[in-house]
Amino acid sequence: MVKISPSILSADFAILGKELCALEEAKADYIHIDVMDGRFVPNITIGPFVVEAVHRVTTLPLDVHLMIEEPERYVKEFADAGASIITVHAEATKHLHKVLQDIRSAGVKAGVSINPGTPISFIKDIIGDIDLLLIMSVNPGFSGQSFIPASLEKIKEARALLDANGSKAELEVDGGIKTGNIKEAANAGADVFVSGSGIFSAGEYKKTILQMKVLAEGERV
Ligand code: DX5
Ligand code: ZN
Repeated sequence: MVKISPSILSADFAILGKELCALEEAKADYIHIDVMDGRFVPNITIGPFVVEAVHRVTTLPLDVHLMIEEPERYVKEFADAGASIITVHAEATKHLHKVLQDIRSAGVKAGVSINPGTPISFIKDIIGDIDLLLIMSVNPGFSGQSFIPASLEKIKEARALLDANGSKAELEVDGGIKTGNIKEAANAGADVFVSGSGIFSAGEYKKTILQMKVLAEGERV
C-alpha cells in the first residue's frame, strides 16, 4: 500500500487544527512537517512547539522533515514533541550514523534525506540504519516548485539500493508531486508521497488524496 503524506507547509496556518482534521478525514497516512532553520535552507518555518500542538489534534503519524544544520541538536525536542519519523539531511550533519542512532534510541523511526545534487552513493553506508529514505525532487526550502525530472532515475537507484540490502525502509519522494506525476514516481519505486501544493491548491483533499492513491497503486497491482 502506498502512503500519502500531505505537507502542511501549504496549509492555512490560521486554521491549522481544522486543516489537520480535514486531512485525517481525507485519509492521509502521515502528516509531513517541514522544519526549516534559515541556514540549511533559506526559509524559516516550524519548531518543536508547533509539532507538539499538531500532535495534540491528530492521531496520524507525524513525518517530521528536518531541513536544519546539525540536526543532532534537536532530535530530543522533536521526539518529545511527538514525531513518529524524524528525517535528517545527509548534507546537514558530520555525524550521520550517530544522529540516526540517536533518533532510534529516542523511540522514533529514523529517516535520511538527500538533495537533488547529492548522489545516492553518499548514503550507502548507513542503509541498514534507516526506516525511511527521502529523495528530494526539488531543492528544499519552499513548496510549490516543479518536480525535477532527473529525480525519477534517482528513485530507481534508491529502490535498487534498498532492495539489494534487503532493507524494509520506506522510500519517500518530496517536492512537486501532483496527480499528474505521482504515477511515474510510483513506477520508479517510491511508496510514500509527500505533497503540499498538489493537495492544498486542489481544494478537495479527500478526492485528491484518493486519486493520488489510485494512480500510485495502479503501478503495483
Ligand atoms: C520543500 C519541502 C516539501 C514541500 C512540498 O522544501 O520539504 O515538503 O513543502 O511542497 P510541494 O508538494 O508543493 O512541492
Ligand atoms: Zn518536506
